[in-house]
Amino acid sequence: MTATHTSLANARVVEELERARRATLALLAPVPDADQRRQVSELMSPLCWDLAHIAHYEELWLLRALDAGAPTDPRFDDLYDAFRHPRRERVDLPILDPAGARAFAAEVRARTLAHLVTVDLDADEPLVHDGFVYGMVVQHEHQHAETMVATIQLMGEAFAHPDAALVRERGPAPAVDHRATCAVPGGTVVLGTSTEPWAYDNERPAHAVEVAPFVIDRYPVTNARFAEFVADGGYADPRHWTGAGWAWRTEAALAHPQFWRSEGAATWSRLRFGRREDLPGSEPVQHVGWFEADAFARWSGARLPTEPEWEAAAEGTPVAAANLGRRRWAPSPVGSRPATASRVGAEQMLGDVWEWTSSTFAAYPGFRSFPYREYSEVFFGDEYTVLRGGSWAADPAAVRTTFRNWDFPIRRQIFAGLRLAHDA
Ligand SMILES: [Fe+2]
Repeated sequence: MTATHTSLANARVVEELERARRATLALLAPVPDADQRRQVSELMSPLCWDLAHIAHYEELWLLRALDAGAPTDPRFDDLYDAFRHPRRERVDLPILDPAGARAFAAEVRARTLAHLVTVDLDADEPLVHDGFVYGMVVQHEHQHAETMVATIQLMGEAFAHPDAALVRERGPAPAVDHRATCAVPGGTVVLGTSTEPWAYDNERPAHAVEVAPFVIDRYPVTNARFAEFVADGGYADPRHWTGAGWAWRTEAALAHPQFWRSEGAATWSRLRFGRREDLPGSEPVQHVGWFEADAFARWSGARLPTEPEWEAAAEGTPVAAANLGRRRWAPSPVGSRPATASRVGAEQMLGDVWEWTSSTFAAYPGFRSFPYREYSEVFFGDEYTVLRGGSWAADPAAVRTTFRNWDFPIRRQIFAGLRLAHDA
């Protein structure tokens, strides 16, 4: 079909593409180009690599995969392939500088939008049907933007992002019991989705799983609770840690969550986007790895939820009520978002912090890789543990109750915390 498509579906795709781009550019705008070009941490890419990689991915999937254009530069297939160069090496590659990356992103976007008006999103072609491949590219950009937020946090005292100074909704935290719980009846739970148009392959297909009755915390674990674990010597007692976790804790000399600093007896500060501030006890803890989350859970006499448990507890959470999309540049205090209550009454399951589960990243029964193996399939295995729910830095377009994120159990620069589960 060569007609011009101005359908509602096409208009929605344009709006989501443009909203993602506005957010990415607004995030980077205050960061000096020299900081966008440098390597902030071994764990992260230069910010200008991320931006050009976003553009290259868009060119690959929204132009080249749709037979709609030639490569801008054949060298980019190597330079911007995340599998060919580890993050710590990218700074030494002949990558585009920040201005070049911005120009590349703008050029690709103009070509994408010009082509989009010729695309029939109702076509019976899996890549474009319901805008799937556009949704994939939109989510990819949002996911990289969250990674860039983590890079900006890792700049430490060297750079204070101006948007983070505008923490909204400060004021007294609600007086709620941080340890409140919700009962979750057991039974058959539907895990994943077969109908959500922009869901990734790893969320598919929907399938029934049996879950025993259990109890889940109403809120994510707060800084105040985590500080009790630290004060009780939790980081110094191998009984709370797995063997691998203890080895890591010892090697990395971990004594508290990342970005915390002791300010004397039972007092902590945290560094948040270049500014040091009192640690807010009522906010969910973040910047803990899976090993620390798991150790905290054992110390508490509880455990991390499995993925099916997490998804059962999250069912019915209204995404619009969640702290997502860098509205606040921090998690929100527990009890401050009662409108996020799920069907069983658990709050803040979406937004605020990613929540570590006890599950390793595995294929669902009936999994089919689509549209490429390197999105999910190559990561399946025991090396990665699954995180759920999205963080304050994640965009609502890339968060849903079925969404699965994964990372190494030692990673703590991500905006991750935890929520406790208990046997009934
Ligand atoms: Fe990527």
